[in-house]
Amino acid sequence: MAALVVRPSGPLEGSVTVSGAKNSVLKLLAATVLAPGRYRLHNVPDIADVAWMSDLLVAMGMQTSRPSPGELVVDAPDELVPEAPYELVEKMRASIVVLGPLLARFGRARVSLPGGDDFGSRPIDMHLEALRTLGASIELAHGFVEARADRLRGARIGLDFPSVGATENAMMAAVLAEGTTVIDNAAREPEIVDLAAFLNRMGAVVRFAGSSTIEIDGVRELHPVEHTLIPDRIETATYLAAVGIAGGEITIAGARPDHMDLLVHKLGQMGMRISPCNEGLWAMAPRRLSAVDVSTLPYPGLATDYKPLLVAMLSVADGVAIVTENIFSGRFRYVDELVRMGADVRTDGHHAIVRGREWLSGAPVRAHDIRAGAAVVLAGLRAQGETTVTDAEHIDRGYERFVEKLRGLGADIERT
Ligand code: UD1
Repeated sequence: MAALVVRPSGPLEGSVTVSGAKNSVLKLLAATVLAPGRYRLHNVPDIADVAWMSDLLVAMGMQTSRPSPGELVVDAPDELVPEAPYELVEKMRASIVVLGPLLARFGRARVSLPGGDDFGSRPIDMHLEALRTLGASIELAHGFVEARADRLRGARIGLDFPSVGATENAMMAAVLAEGTTVIDNAAREPEIVDLAAFLNRMGAVVRFAGSSTIEIDGVRELHPVEHTLIPDRIETATYLAAVGIAGGEITIAGARPDHMDLLVHKLGQMGMRISPCNEGLWAMAPRRLSAVDVSTLPYPGLATDYKPLLVAMLSVADGVAIVTENIFSGRFRYVDELVRMGADVRTDGHHAIVRGREWLSGAPVRAHDIRAGAAVVLAGLRAQGETTVTDAEHIDRGYERFVEKLRGLGADIERT
């Protein structure tokens, strides 16, 4: 069991390089199911989720290799076993996105139903409804989704909510369907735009029409490609939160400020100065930030994945803030960990009231999930004494060289 030990640190200074986007690479790897041949991906983070997704591709009959840092090569044969076993889907629920592309290419797919996780219950009804709309017959049996279709047919899909995963599954199914598909109320996260770019490079025809509609003209076949991933905006936000909590001045090389306009605006309201620079993003934070209210929404709203980081920042800011979660109702579990560190946070599961304290107090705490884990680590930068974060392998799922990168900025943190 990995643990991280953090001590009060700051002001932070120096430069950190952001890795490629986790939430993009997982979907691009799923898309390699769509055509045989050799794919070459660049800027791929060295994180556990990528290793697990590679394991899933290998279980289906593909080969993957890492010829150099940041590079991932996938060799897809003509035939695959169109199945995603429980052991792998259970580890990483994002692997459900192989369902659409497997079905589109092989006419059948058997994918384990993902369970719930620390965000609470996470249904996939919209994924299944979208595939049914494209003509798939879907049965749920023995913990698996079993889907079949001779050839999917383009159709109009209306999502009840702009779900990231459902949009991706529908897109990857529709690219090989017969005719045109329109996805209304589609998600528009930068990772979805990256997936569309990847698919179009493979020969697909995916268009963004208006602010929440995606149109896809199905094609007969696709081909493998080479692609460079967009940077991880949540990782970027993590280093912004680190400097916001500890104070200081840093540069985040490789960051894309245009993917995170609203967050940059919010942090500006809290007293940070952030601006684009040649390397990526420059950020400066005073010794203590001011509290502001925050509310999560689908992109371009404030991402739910930023929220644990923002709550950690607000717990040491000056003033009182109301935080509203509109995406995952259960996503406040890490609050109990912050409270163990002396934070004054109350939540009903939908809202949290955060009364900022000058200092927190170091304590043994747990990393509940990737971002919640990062948030408690960052809170430790402003907690007197020592904070020990156990279950740190959750953090390794999404962050490449997390400890080394924070140490490079002057944070007092080590892995035990
Ligand atoms: C993705 C991201 C995750 C991020 C989330 C929201 C990946 C690997 N994960 O997760 O980091 O926090 O987007 O930005 O990219 N829902 C249903 N039925 C469905 C699908 C979703 O009710 O069939 C609900 C969910 O329970 C949730 C909301 O829709 O309340 C949004 O979920 P969704 O956008 O699908 O999140 P993920 O794709 O799972």
